[in-house]
Amino acid sequence: MTDHEPAVQTEPTVRMLYTAEQITARVREMGLEMARDYDGLRPIYVGVLKGACVFQCDLARATPVDVELDYVSVSSYGAGTVSSGQPKLLTDLRIDIRGRHIVLCEGVVDSGVTVSFILDLLRSRGPASLKVATLLDKVPCRKIQVPVDYAGWKIGSEFVVGYGLDANERYRNLPYVGILEEA
Ligand code: IMP
Ligand code: MG
Repeated sequence: MTDHEPAVQTEPTVRMLYTAEQITARVREMGLEMARDYDGLRPIYVGVLKGACVFQCDLARATPVDVELDYVSVSSYGAGTVSSGQPKLLTDLRIDIRGRHIVLCEGVVDSGVTVSFILDLLRSRGPASLKVATLLDKVPCRKIQVPVDYAGWKIGSEFVVGYGLDANERYRNLPYVGILEEA
């Protein structure tokens, strides 16, 4: 090798955790449970952009009652895989949530900082009820206790990607969830 040859770039690998079929089945169960809980209440599923959007849309389609959709986005994580700092609101709701039944939808709850911040914000606007649904709950990573009312699966502290979840904006469109293993 000469000094001018580029170093070999090794790609991270994604190890399968939940297949698309497993996710479909679990989201369907969650949607049916939530349809029972929210029948006649016309809930608003609030997705946390961007990681929750695939889950939120699938969950809404799996919930056979009237559901409205809205979005917030916050910045908290940097580009890496480790949490940093205090969240800031980047995108606000379009719907007035006073007196409405709200389900905050996340792809993954990690430290709880993001969900806690958004719950405080939404609570200050006087919703009739406020719950949390997440596909994945990284229970051992919690730094702030937050109520998780509907969880697809409880997992460990591994960094997961796919089905909306990213690492530096990659992997969001994988139809499955996998564990990112650095090369
Ligand atoms: P928290 O504030 O630490 O609970 O982190 C929540 C946010 O961090 C999520 O909305 C994700 O954007 C991101 N995040 C945390 N863990 C993971 C992961 O394992 N994969 C991808 N994104 C993650
Ligand atoms: Mg991310």
